[in-house]
Amino acid sequence: MVKKPPFVAGNWKMHLTMGEAKGLATAIVKVSADLAGAEIVLAPPFTALGEVKKVLEGSPVRLAAQNLFWEEKGAFTGEVSAPMLRDSGCQYVIIGHSERRQYFGETDDGVNRKIKAALKSGVFPIFCVGETLSERESGQTMDVISRQLQGGLDSIGAGVLKSIVIAYEPVWAIGTGKTATPDQAEEVHSRIREKLALKYGNGTAECAIILYGGSVKPTNSFALLSEKNIDGFLVGGASLEAESFVQIVREAIRAYKEKK
Ligand code: 13P
Repeated sequence: MVKKPPFVAGNWKMHLTMGEAKGLATAIVKVSADLAGAEIVLAPPFTALGEVKKVLEGSPVRLAAQNLFWEEKGAFTGEVSAPMLRDSGCQYVIIGHSERRQYFGETDDGVNRKIKAALKSGVFPIFCVGETLSERESGQTMDVISRQLQGGLDSIGAGVLKSIVIAYEPVWAIGTGKTATPDQAEEVHSRIREKLALKYGNGTAECAIILYGGSVKPTNSFALLSEKNIDGFLVGGASLEAESFVQIVREAIRAYKEKK
């Protein structure tokens, strides 16, 4: 297995005014020199991208958006394109989050178009997959994940897979305080890597960054990241406080150092 520095992204979802976002980003940047060895990414709402970009300038912390539309420009009221994100200083964009699939009707085909649009503009996708509780309970977890992976990565070649971060976020663990156990998460992560190996070959699959998301906290991040196939986290609630987010990053670095 190729050992990769931990990747920790904070998804702020629909939270924080510009002033609040600036405050949180400033607090994280202040300690970022201590967190060398991790890739840290912050995903504020669109309205705060500009403020947070200014705070991140000159720091190792990267900026992400939470969504995009696949067209470059045009009469698409309310949408934001990949070139616009690039222009706003985003290196990453979250695509296919379960909240977008659930509340805004995003489909695997739409996710695929968005991934391609992001890549075309040089913005790295953080591509989310995950099953609901009823899907898990009826034994369909891997069918769902396979379908989402296949759809989202349709006609995407091995050469660009290295520019895509994959995030496994079981829907039943998001915002519920119910984290997947390290074993449960590792099982799905290893199966995702197997699927990637089948499609792209072992070398490419081993290099892929696969994040876990769903009630990640300072208290569970060490055990999760100690798992072989868990390369980092996509953090929701706990990323809204500098202290808990930074602690998650520290725990991830500690687990990484001890990892074989
Ligand atoms: P929570 O960490 O609040 O469960 O959210 C996870 C998530 O959806 C990150 O994208």
